[in-house]
Amino acid sequence: MESLVEVARLITTCTDCSLHLGRTNAVPGEGAQDAEIMLIGEGPGFHEDRLGRPFVGPAGQFLEELLASIGLKREQVFIANMVKCRPPQNRDPLPEELSACSKYLERQIELVDPLLIVTLGRFSLTRFFPGESISRARGRVRQRDGRSIFPIMHPAAALHRQEHRATIMEDFRAIPGVLEGLRERLRQLPEPVMPPVMEEAPPPEQLALF
Ligand code: URA
Repeated sequence: MESLVEVARLITTCTDCSLHLGRTNAVPGEGAQDAEIMLIGEGPGFHEDRLGRPFVGPAGQFLEELLASIGLKREQVFIANMVKCRPPQNRDPLPEELSACSKYLERQIELVDPLLIVTLGRFSLTRFFPGESISRARGRVRQRDGRSIFPIMHPAAALHRQEHRATIMEDFRAIPGVLEGLRERLRQLPEPVMPPVMEEAPPPEQLALF
């Protein structure tokens, strides 16, 4: 199977939608290959486009505070986005841009295989739950396609509206408990049954020549 590095290489050379025309850098995403948590944002903004790294502007600073509040550093999680190139003037990504880019997120999810996916904002929420609203879905874990999804508001919402800050912090505080529940569930899964090992057939006996 290809590696995250290989997926990142495909992203940085991608020309599958018009967002590539305006990018300084594509932003593949980054973090630990074996991360338990994968965070999925919307798309790169100004700072991310400049540096080629996700969540390095003001929203990223808040995200790092949130991670620290539950004892995590950004290197311990995997941080990705729905689209990997910055939409002009930070407009919402268009359906055709989301769909052109979705193959990369699929592969990242498969490769990291996180215990928990935390969606940040409505675009990553609707990737898993089309038509769902963030105010209804936020702060509780749900299953989709065999994955555990924990939707929260986008950290940038806290920068525009102070009252959202407390909500996001409260939702984030629930993550360690959710993770512990998921780890416990994993521990209780029965051991996979391995197929019986076939004895190797003994070599045919040499025919005596005499
Ligand atoms: N907002 C996002 O959704 N993603 C980033 O990488 C930065 C800001």
